[in-house]
Amino acid sequence: MIDRRRILTLAGAVGASTAAAPFVRPSWAQTSGLKVGLLLPYSGTYAPLGEAITRAMELYVQQQGGKIAGRDITFVKVDDESAPPKATELTTKLISGEKVDVLMGTVHSGVAMAMVKIAREDGLPTLVPNAGADAITRAMCAKNVFRTSFGNSQVGNATGLAMVKAGIKKVVTVTWKYAAGEESVVGFKKAFTAGGGEILKDITLPFPDVEFQSILAEIASLKPDAVYSFFAGGGALKFIKDYAGAKLNEKIPLWGPGFLTDGVEKAAGPAGDGVKTVLHYAEGLDNPENRKFTADFVEAYKTRPDVYAVQGWDAMQLLRIGLDAVGGDVKNRPQLFSAMASASFRSPRGPFKLGTSHNPIQNFYLRELRGGVNNYLGVAAEGLADETTGCKLI
Ligand code: PHB
Repeated sequence: MIDRRRILTLAGAVGASTAAAPFVRPSWAQTSGLKVGLLLPYSGTYAPLGEAITRAMELYVQQQGGKIAGRDITFVKVDDESAPPKATELTTKLISGEKVDVLMGTVHSGVAMAMVKIAREDGLPTLVPNAGADAITRAMCAKNVFRTSFGNSQVGNATGLAMVKAGIKKVVTVTWKYAAGEESVVGFKKAFTAGGGEILKDITLPFPDVEFQSILAEIASLKPDAVYSFFAGGGALKFIKDYAGAKLNEKIPLWGPGFLTDGVEKAAGPAGDGVKTVLHYAEGLDNPENRKFTADFVEAYKTRPDVYAVQGWDAMQLLRIGLDAVGGDVKNRPQLFSAMASASFRSPRGPFKLGTSHNPIQNFYLRELRGGVNNYLGVAAEGLADETTGCKLI
């Protein structure tokens, strides 16, 4: 049974229009509202990530005067709790119960894989604004499924390239034992070992555990040149603090995909100083889209956007390109999907386009956390695509 309180409905049509949408004459069938289902975590360690994605999506719709391609946007939000066992029921509830026109979700790779399994059979337009499960744009790829974030291996790969370039030779990896952490490490190792690096040990703990003490003691005794770690949300904050608490930050540089520091940069305080990360976004990126997005987001929410907000924003940009191409007729799937697949636009992260399996081809940036800011240090990889192994678009 689904707890009704977990389903929150919100009309997205609020505020005045600040950006004029191209004029489209909707047919009578397209003048009604368009329901967008959000399957996201609103509780647990990934709750801030789900919140950031949602905020950016709502801001986008607000700036369009509540409408995209002439249709009033309504969000239907479901808290997936980052709990894979609940994913099938909650996805079915959104698709068959709420009859959403578009599905957006989620953060956790395990939940996303269950969601995509249903979505690819149903065929409704589906956008993934975070979860990096490699399979979503490899063996499970589908005509109707689009990702505006990254592949787990893709980010690991980019981080490995940067660590080789930094001259690091011996590494211990540490992560949660589930698809995202494990795939992140696979992608990292591929680049790192190809560049001559050596892995001293891979350490894992169950998701979302945060008992790090014995792991930190082991890292200290292994004496690597650096640590590669995939954590995010509340768990990432705890890891950064415990790492500094054990004084490891004074002798063994802490590295990882930027999920380690995004959204927790202020809360980490001095414990975060010196943490080096690689990500497809950096808060100080100097481009007009990032400057405007950051200013608008800060005005609306009194806090800076992070990578999750950018991914939510771009999911709406991509959806809009598709809907504009079909005059809001979401049932015209062939044309909708082909417009989305060939979309290319300016994101706050830099240029955005999709590869053949619908995963972004994008730049990755090296950042260093200091004084609560992920400072941009340079480009770690330009226009990096993920592998498309096993992808046959159905
Ligand atoms: C994932 O489960 O794919 C995931 C979760 C949080 C992140 C990145 C990836 O920050």
